[in-house]
Amino acid sequence: EKGNHRHFMVKEIYEQPDACQHTLTAYVDPVTGHVSAPGGFDFASVTRLQIIACGTAFYAGLIARYLFERLAGLPCDVEIASEFRYREPAVTPGTLAIAVSQSGETADTLAALRWCQAKGLKTAAIVNAHESTMAREAGMLWPTHAGPEIGVASTKAFTSQVTALTALAVAAAAQRGRIDAEEEKRLVRVLLEAPRLVGESLGVEEMVQALSLEISKARDVLYLGRGAMSALAYEGALKLKEISYIHAEGYAAGELKHGPIALVDEATPIIVIAPTDELFEKTVSNMSEVLARGGRVILITDEAGAAHAPAGVSVIIAPTCDPLIAPLVFAAPIQLLAYHVAVQKGADVDQPRNLAKSVTVE
Ligand code: F6R
Repeated sequence: EKGNHRHFMVKEIYEQPDACQHTLTAYVDPVTGHVSAPGGFDFASVTRLQIIACGTAFYAGLIARYLFERLAGLPCDVEIASEFRYREPAVTPGTLAIAVSQSGETADTLAALRWCQAKGLKTAAIVNAHESTMAREAGMLWPTHAGPEIGVASTKAFTSQVTALTALAVAAAAQRGRIDAEEEKRLVRVLLEAPRLVGESLGVEEMVQALSLEISKARDVLYLGRGAMSALAYEGALKLKEISYIHAEGYAAGELKHGPIALVDEATPIIVIAPTDELFEKTVSNMSEVLARGGRVILITDEAGAAHAPAGVSVIIAPTCDPLIAPLVFAAPIQLLAYHVAVQKGADVDQPRNLAKSVTVE
């Protein structure tokens, strides 16, 4: 079943262009070029979004917040389900609660979804397992089409969640009158390019593999990013610790000087995820701060970013893309990095210790 691949995880990393493509077909009409929620939903009818999820799905939600707020002007909160369900959150009428879950069975996410329904909120579930409890119980089912995910560390389910959420944010922007028909068309074109660019991003594998031996020797690794890339920094750190058992932390790059910079030394690789955007120069300053303290920096960026990388930085070059889909295009490099480091360490990549694919206990 693994085909030519050594592990399900890497097979699933390589299935991402297809997973992204299949998921898009549920959200984008290829003929009209119109993007909408499956089954139809008008984002102009809500005043706020509350995304609830755990683990990797939570990070997909964090990425979505940048898109819903920036593109659609729609206030969006994102919270870990286990916190949300117990803290007695204040309910704003007009809120749409969106549960995000690969399995559709995660106990805390399901409980949070039920809590929202009991409070009378509209609910939707972005799930990959279409026969799951969340798929059945949510007011609306917004599917991802990643296909079955076997590897315990989520990869294609994550990028499928980001795909669905990105499409929904474009739909929300159009429905709320924040973008005109022309801009909607342009963004849909960008969305439809995502599967190809995600495929191209797999081309970093050799560069990543070449760095994996060095990283496999580290005790700690830091991941940094700004904007939506901060969520990818958290996800990169989660992936690495799950399968390689190396301690890793993701930080919003601007937080570096507020504490984590104390950890910088030559033995702690700092992985910076930074496509060229309006914040790139700020991230260059962060890298310079790290280098000045003898730190080791690995930069995942695009062609233009590579040209501006400070001397002494190792660069992994991902495809150049529109910022809308950068979280999708930059996901594979961090997944492949975690994968190759784990393989270097001889870890059981598909069955990491202490972890279960679906967390149905609270
Ligand atoms: C990480 C991972 C977990 C899940 C989390 C939520 O690689 O797989 O963090 O993302 O347990 O699971 P679902 O999406 O099934 O609710």
